Amino acid sequence: MYKSINHIMCSLVQKYNIPGPRYTSYPTVPYWDLNSFSGKKWQESVQHSFNATNSKEGISVYIHLPFCESMCTFCGCHKRITKRHDVELPYLKSILKEWKLYRDLFSEKPIIKELHLGGGTPTFFSPENLKFLIEGIFRFAERAEEAELSFEGHPNNTTYEHLQALYELGFRRVSYGVQDYNETVQKAIHRVQPFENVKKVSDWAREIGYTSVGHDIIFGLPHQTLAHVEETILKTKELKPDRLAFYSYAHVPWMKGNGQRGYKDSDLPSADVKRRQYEKGKALLLDVGYHEIGMDHFALASDSLYESMKAGKLHRNFMGYTDSKTSLMVGLGASSIGDSWYGFAQNVKSIEEYQHLIENDIIPIFRGHILTEEDQIVRRHILNLMCSFETSWNTHRLYLPELESILDRLTEMEADGLVEIKTRSLKITEKGRPFVRNICMAFDLKLQRKAPETKLFSMTI
Ligand SMILES: C[S@@+](CC[C@H](N)C(=O)[O-])C[C@H]1O[C@@H](n2cnc3c(N)ncnc32)[C@H](O)[C@@H]1O
Ligand code: SF4
Repeated sequence: MYKSINHIMCSLVQKYNIPGPRYTSYPTVPYWDLNSFSGKKWQESVQHSFNATNSKEGISVYIHLPFCESMCTFCGCHKRITKRHDVELPYLKSILKEWKLYRDLFSEKPIIKELHLGGGTPTFFSPENLKFLIEGIFRFAERAEEAELSFEGHPNNTTYEHLQALYELGFRRVSYGVQDYNETVQKAIHRVQPFENVKKVSDWAREIGYTSVGHDIIFGLPHQTLAHVEETILKTKELKPDRLAFYSYAHVPWMKGNGQRGYKDSDLPSADVKRRQYEKGKALLLDVGYHEIGMDHFALASDSLYESMKAGKLHRNFMGYTDSKTSLMVGLGASSIGDSWYGFAQNVKSIEEYQHLIENDIIPIFRGHILTEEDQIVRRHILNLMCSFETSWNTHRLYLPELESILDRLTEMEADGLVEIKTRSLKITEKGRPFVRNICMAFDLKLQRKAPETKLFSMTI
């Protein structure tokens, strides 16, 4: 009997919508081997990575600025809600001290290729204090010729002065959290933010000279309908951001410190509606000239992320997709994660504990993982799939003895037309793109060997 495309996709979603990682790292955090990890091993891996790559490709720095004035209930980021702005300076001083602890490990001046301020809300901090932070970082570092400096701005509190001050410090890229323009949805997620605010801060950024303005929008939010997603994308089109993150809402109400219990599961769109929101949203974005970049990102052809995808140089790390790959990423601030390519380490999450450890000259990590040879190969495959929707094992460097069982796990997805498997490579089809996380899971040897015992991951679709 004839089945419509819609019907087929709907049953694929039912079949493959299972909990799964977002793969900003491999191994994923719950699978880090904490027993064989130590602060000493982490520092050695940082030194090793720095010595091998600083003068060739530079390093990346991620700075987590965790404060927000008000709690958006959908938010899964690590943040502290406060209206007290006297927290700013002591926190920034701790970050500069943490930077000094890392610099003491380095044999020469670090060359910063990429620096990102994330949060929480970086624009919670005053322009003067952000200037104090960035000047402090660069007092003891060189700026790579094509360094990319970027920050996340909240449309409700980003001022012209923020944009001007950060531009003068070398920032050329800003991304704004938009989520959805509909008032019912905005009220449900406790984030009322009129279109005019987003327009104002996007226009200011362009006027000042920022070369890339990004917006984050989300599908699958409480009370969000297909029409709301359409409305949000049509409004987005008017502002033509250079980059767009089109995230699937991650529902993880069991995680500490988020407000997702503020609404009921029944307030969320069903898996099928969510999938249609994604498809409709994607079609509209492609229609108005955006190109799909890896998983959940879109960019105009004029944006460097698109150029980098075309050149096969896209990379993915804890900051998301990036066009400048560095092997070493130093994460500063409470809860930040660092990546030396050979290892990962995460800072303590409590701001008080973070500041206390720094005061005692201790790099404030509390957990991490040193990658085995196998981890490094799996990591490459997962990066290839997430960045270019294909991977191959035609060199010794990418060979895994488990390949046969990995491909066995993909047989059903191949029969469903989601992947095309050749002798030494595989490609995710257009139809298979929404299922990229499921395909990565077939390669995730740690997950395959031991299924999680508790709820850890959001649903893949
Ligand atoms: C740190 S926030 C953005 C900066 C700023 N605090 C703001 O809200 O405008 C980074 C982005 O993560 C995304 N995000 C947060 N929680 C999410 C969730 N549960 N599911 C999907 N995306 C989420 C949102 O799109 C948000 O804009
Ligand atoms: S979405 Fe942004 S402003 Fe809202 S709670 Fe999360 S980090 Fe803070």
